[in-house]
Amino acid sequence: MSLLIKNGEIVTASERYVADIYCENETITRIDRNLKAPPGTEVIDARGQYVFPGFIDPHVHIYLPFMGTFAKDTYETASQAALIGGTTTLIEMCAPSRAEDTLAGFELWMKQAVGRSACDFTFHMSVTKFNDQTEAQLREIVKRGISSFKVYLAYKGAFGVDDTELYRTLKLAKELGVIVTAHCENETLIAERSKELLAAGKTGPAQHHESRPPAVEAEGVHHLMTFAKLTGAATYIVHLSCKEALDQAIAARQDGVRVTVETLIQYLTLDKSHAEKAGIEGAKYVMSPPLRDLRNQEVLWNGLRDGLVQTVATDHCPFDFTTKKKMGKNDFTKIPNGIPSLEDRINLLYTYGVKTGKIDLHTFVNVASTQTAKTFDLFPRKGTIQPGADADLVVYDPKYRGKISAKTHHINVDYSVFEGWKIEGRPSTVTVRGAVAVRDGKFVGHADRGTFLKRQPSHF
Ligand code: URP
Ligand code: ZN
Repeated sequence: MSLLIKNGEIVTASERYVADIYCENETITRIDRNLKAPPGTEVIDARGQYVFPGFIDPHVHIYLPFMGTFAKDTYETASQAALIGGTTTLIEMCAPSRAEDTLAGFELWMKQAVGRSACDFTFHMSVTKFNDQTEAQLREIVKRGISSFKVYLAYKGAFGVDDTELYRTLKLAKELGVIVTAHCENETLIAERSKELLAAGKTGPAQHHESRPPAVEAEGVHHLMTFAKLTGAATYIVHLSCKEALDQAIAARQDGVRVTVETLIQYLTLDKSHAEKAGIEGAKYVMSPPLRDLRNQEVLWNGLRDGLVQTVATDHCPFDFTTKKKMGKNDFTKIPNGIPSLEDRINLLYTYGVKTGKIDLHTFVNVASTQTAKTFDLFPRKGTIQPGADADLVVYDPKYRGKISAKTHHINVDYSVFEGWKIEGRPSTVTVRGAVAVRDGKFVGHADRGTFLKRQPSHF
């Protein structure tokens, strides 16, 4: 199997030039001008288009039993939608609840993905409790190719860990060279404020953000940073939403704490007024941490541009509006948290980030691919375009004009918070390890081509 992508403008995190890319089997083998295609080679003319390294989403939920219900996508639907949107690698949260066995949870999540994913994948292993048995199981899971953990400071009783468990998890991670990703919100404050709001008859979706204001997230970040400093573990803050939380992370970083920051495409493009829409409509916009005041968008875009925020993810959570989100119509604490966006991240980041001049093309590639690959032990196999790298390539047409709609998207969920939003650019061709998977918005690949990416920890 060979593939030649001709005349495209190659853009990586640090380079930009016009050249041809030749791929043999699964790998990029040559990059040069005027490459000739041996007989049998598939040739794609990328003149006038960009060629980006395959994008990586470092935070998705696909199989997700949560808040008394299930997210709706499967690996079949999610991986194909991801590819249509230019994402060629998924990192899913493997999230067994506190009541479940950790290793059995890992095996269960693997079972959902193996043989069913069209794109490559790996997992962050959630640590939802910590005892001697969990510790042994985590060591085994790392041996099986996982190099990142996840802890939740929120969701007590379901996923949340207490401080002893947090400390032990970070100590183990430091010993094993594993990076710990963390949901940072103070659970006690959320629980108390939620009770007060409900008792006062404040039950609608907009109360969700009242129950967890920026100080709740900033306290969560500060808390994690204290534990990270004392253990020396490498940490990664998932879905950071606001200035108050970012200030805590920056202060800790200046103090020598090892911390990487992720934000989400939702926080860059939406704000809390969306969750204040009348009636149950606001439930579509309920996620945690919540959408914030508009002023935070500029802070986050600037953070990406200045290298203070390193990655952009989706935290994709496909809960239907009509059957799932509406479960919380009389009580905002019962709205399944999360906003689906897996398919749209790259087109939104390009349209509302690059095209508006908020970030340049190199930052775009860096935050949506390269930094994730580096942070999660996938680089240089993923995250760049160079000989020896996997041939995961996105030929991107900057002249495309279209609109996002739930009627046409490929994720398996009945609404889009970006309904009717225009996009200016989209992938015209996407490859997965040298095989074409997408042409002009249509999945044309192999439904089971994706493989589990074994990773070696490096964060000692
Ligand atoms: O609202 C969110 N973020 N839902 C998914 C679970 C989590 O917190 O990551
Ligand atoms: Zn979270």
